[in-house]
Amino acid sequence: MIKLAIDLGSSVTKIFRIGSGVVLAEPSCVAVSAVHGTVKAIGEEAKKLIGKTAEYTTIVFPVFEADIVNGEMAAVMLSYFLEKAGVTRARARRAEVLFSVPCGAKNELLDKYYALAAACGIRTVSFVEVPFLSALGQNMPLSETEPAFVVDMGGGSTNIAAFSLDGVIAGIGLNIGGGNIDSQIIDCIAEKFGLKIGLQTSEKLKMTVGSLYESDSERMIVNGRDIAEGRPRSISVSSEDIYGCIKLFADKVIEYTALVTAKLPAEVSAAIWHNGIFLSGGTARIIGMDDYFSRALQMDVTIAEEPQMAVVLGGGRTIGDEEVLEAVRIEY
Ligand SMILES: Nc1ncnc2c1ncn2[C@@H]1O[C@H](COP(=O)(O)OP(=O)(O)OP(=O)(O)O)[C@@H](O)[C@H]1O
Ligand SMILES: [Mg+2]
Repeated sequence: MIKLAIDLGSSVTKIFRIGSGVVLAEPSCVAVSAVHGTVKAIGEEAKKLIGKTAEYTTIVFPVFEADIVNGEMAAVMLSYFLEKAGVTRARARRAEVLFSVPCGAKNELLDKYYALAAACGIRTVSFVEVPFLSALGQNMPLSETEPAFVVDMGGGSTNIAAFSLDGVIAGIGLNIGGGNIDSQIIDCIAEKFGLKIGLQTSEKLKMTVGSLYESDSERMIVNGRDIAEGRPRSISVSSEDIYGCIKLFADKVIEYTALVTAKLPAEVSAAIWHNGIFLSGGTARIIGMDDYFSRALQMDVTIAEEPQMAVVLGGGRTIGDEEVLEAVRIEY
């Protein structure tokens, strides 16, 4: 029996296969011909086309802010990824699959996941909320009595929760993520330098010079289009230039994290203060994120060893262990 954990992220889809480990991590996007509606590229190949295609090619992100917004394209994309990971349709029919879903996912979203699984030939499905998987992926000891606190910051969503194996004690799923920082950077570069840059460039800026240490001063040369004159122009952008864009996002997440901690019963709260907060998700990779959280919340903060893979690794651990799966799966 093939056992898979699938993290259908707003930015990156990750697949874990028992016996093999992480077998796929590719951008969750599809390039579609606007004229014929045909699929031109999927995943990595499609992402390369962002901002570089003529008007008649559109890049579709079937998962937006952790919601399946285009079921048809989600199925085309996932079928392709499964094939690429060596899971043919015939094999998918016999596979047991775990999907990670946002904290507090409603039945409406689970219905969409069921439909997606069916469209890919998958018949045996279970769902687990992101915070549990993040914790399990970081090998945190989870029990009924020992609470954990996780903040997973992805590309289009952020999950904040305190929980034990018994369930979520307090938690929230927000529809903001690293993508919001990218858009903010585009606006900021337009305003400061009069230069229009693309999404790929802003994401690269964030990953290369982005930092939550105010004194950092890395630099990167970026190319864009002069807004006034319409001509191509290059500028040097520093960490300080985009600091505000990253801070804006971090402050928002911290604000909600503080709200969640404020809701905890006294004993849970004491345990959380003792164990600290665990960060995961690709956006947790921004330099200084842990120190920034720690300073703002006055708590210990630990970043997952592989932040972006924590959820799918936890998914792998869960689908491979019936007892854990029984404890954390959503009743549906
Ligand atoms: N080194 C890095 N520095 C800053 N940001 C990064 C880095 N690596 C990845 N990211 C960002 O992490 C985000 C993707 O993270 P992740 O794969 O956890 O999201 P996702 O699971 O696809 O989305 P979601 O969980 O919101 O549905 C993107 O916004 C990406 O730009
Ligand atoms: Mg995610």
